[in-house]
Amino acid sequence: MPKYSRTDRPPPPASLSLLVRSLRTRRRSWILLLAGLLALVVYGRIGTRTTTLSAHGASELERRGVRFDRERDEDEVGVDFPPLPELHDRDRLWPPDLSKPICKPKIYVYNLPPSLQLAQKTASQCRWSAYNSELLLHQLLAKPLSSEHPSPDHPHLSLYTSNPDEADFFFAPLFPACYLFDCWVKAGWTKTERCNVDEGYIQPVMRHIRETMPYWNRSAGADHLIPHPMDYVDGYYTETSRAAMNGSSYLVTVGDVRPAPYGSHFRFYRDIVIPSSTHLLNSYYINPLDYVDQDGHPLREPRGAADPRRKTQAVPTGVEIFQPSPHEAGAWRRRPSFRSLASKLVGGRGIDRDRRTTLAIFRGGVGTATDGERYALGIRSLFFPSDGNASTPPFSSAIHPGFSSLPGFDIAEQSENDDYACRLARSKFGLAPPGYTLDTTRIYEYLAFGVVPVFIGSGPTAGQVMPFANDVDWSSFSISIPRDRAHETPHILAQVSDDEYERLRRKVWEVGRMVVLEGREGNVWKLIARQLCRMKRLGIAAGPEIVNN
Ligand SMILES: *[C@@H]1O[C@H](CO)[C@@H](O)[C@H](O)[C@H]1NC(C)=O
Ligand SMILES: *[C@@H]1O[C@H](CO)[C@@H](O)[C@H](O)[C@H]1NC(C)=O
Ligand SMILES: *[C@@H]1O[C@H](CO)[C@@H](O)[C@H](O)[C@H]1NC(C)=O
Repeated sequence: MPKYSRTDRPPPPASLSLLVRSLRTRRRSWILLLAGLLALVVYGRIGTRTTTLSAHGASELERRGVRFDRERDEDEVGVDFPPLPELHDRDRLWPPDLSKPICKPKIYVYNLPPSLQLAQKTASQCRWSAYNSELLLHQLLAKPLSSEHPSPDHPHLSLYTSNPDEADFFFAPLFPACYLFDCWVKAGWTKTERCNVDEGYIQPVMRHIRETMPYWNRSAGADHLIPHPMDYVDGYYTETSRAAMNGSSYLVTVGDVRPAPYGSHFRFYRDIVIPSSTHLLNSYYINPLDYVDQDGHPLREPRGAADPRRKTQAVPTGVEIFQPSPHEAGAWRRRPSFRSLASKLVGGRGIDRDRRTTLAIFRGGVGTATDGERYALGIRSLFFPSDGNASTPPFSSAIHPGFSSLPGFDIAEQSENDDYACRLARSKFGLAPPGYTLDTTRIYEYLAFGVVPVFIGSGPTAGQVMPFANDVDWSSFSISIPRDRAHETPHILAQVSDDEYERLRRKVWEVGRMVVLEGREGNVWKLIARQLCRMKRLGIAAGPEIVNN
């Protein structure tokens, strides 16, 4: 039995029936009382507003003739301050103007005897790996240019020297990551296999560098560069091999300053973080400018090499992100579609461009059942629907529909390349959680397609040292969400205003794209060169002597 049933509830208290009776009999007095109260409230609000302004000293200034706009909403500041004038010396500001080099270092590339060079077959195999970056950087620096009108800023013309005596730095064409990739492919992905990389490859190359020329010994390797674009940097090799390379600076793709053991491979004061290569751009040579226009807006229809009929006839030869593929020549000119005809009829410039309609994109997996937090710090478990069984994908013990269920979220495990490129071109934000390491190659695909990266538990606020962080303001073209707010990602993105998004998007296009490994301008080498200048204090004069007294 419940304690009170409807019938035995206590009667209303005497005070309440008194009030009700008075409302009936003295209606006039009640109305007057309420009107008075209302007047008090209104007067009080006006009073607060005046006080706020005078607290800022506005009325004092107004007496002296300075006028303020008081007709504003209460939650606005109510005063517009003037923007600061431009500084006379722009170099007082960071980030720097990247078109002005700090210094112009010269880099010599060792010529190894054929017996010590990476076999051509191994190199071609490596083009399909994420370690491709070491081959690309070598090629950009050392290979003579094939282009008829090369930019004078191309690294082969501006940085490379064939004369070691005039060199400031030395590049060792030692590619152990590619060697291991080829080895693992042959061994059916048995990653404990080494194919004699230490005694058969690294050590003979390092011996050659030490013994045939005086330059390594001169600096104990300090002005030498060796690429190590693997997750554990030089951690795959024996102590003897590592000791042989130890004196040099490494070009690494994973900059990690988390506590050991996670951050123990990255040597903060010596190594340079470079972007990793990506399958889409650096292996399949998908050109973003066949999907977006020169301002980074999506094209209604992909052009040039993206035309499926063209692909069978012309094989692109290099990575390009600053120039569209050569225009459709007569033979395979696309017949204009109804849509493009219609847009021509409507007329006007920019009519072939489209808007980005997808809020956030992600392509990638969730790891394996045994990975636990080792993979993506568990963050990707939020991306896909979960039934709460932590031993099946997406390995979450909570029941949730996954970000993939939300409108505007384009999330899937994988896509075919052209399809992914089309979707990237139409996405505003790209989710970038960690994988097995903080760094993931998709960041560079986002930048190349004008997509604003959203670091979740990774990136500049999560202990990841971004490429060229001394020269490039990553925060100006990305969003960083800490791991403990990963679940708020959809809310955080929904709150980004149109103005703020446009500011980020422009910076991706102007600055972020410079960090992507491409084959024409070689911007990545220009950024590496800035870091090299700092290492030797080249172009950074000590400045005039300062007298303090
Ligand atoms: C550099 O030093 C090593 C010993 O540390 C020596 O074996 C090598 O011959 C030296 N290189 C040259 C060019 O003198
Ligand atoms: C590399 O050099 C540092 C000193 O600069 C030394 O402490 C470290 O043990 C060396 N590592 C190897 C693998 O030789
Ligand atoms: C979770 O999934 C595993 C693997 O499919 C299955 O063996 C197990 O019974 C499931 N647990 C629950 C509570 O459903």
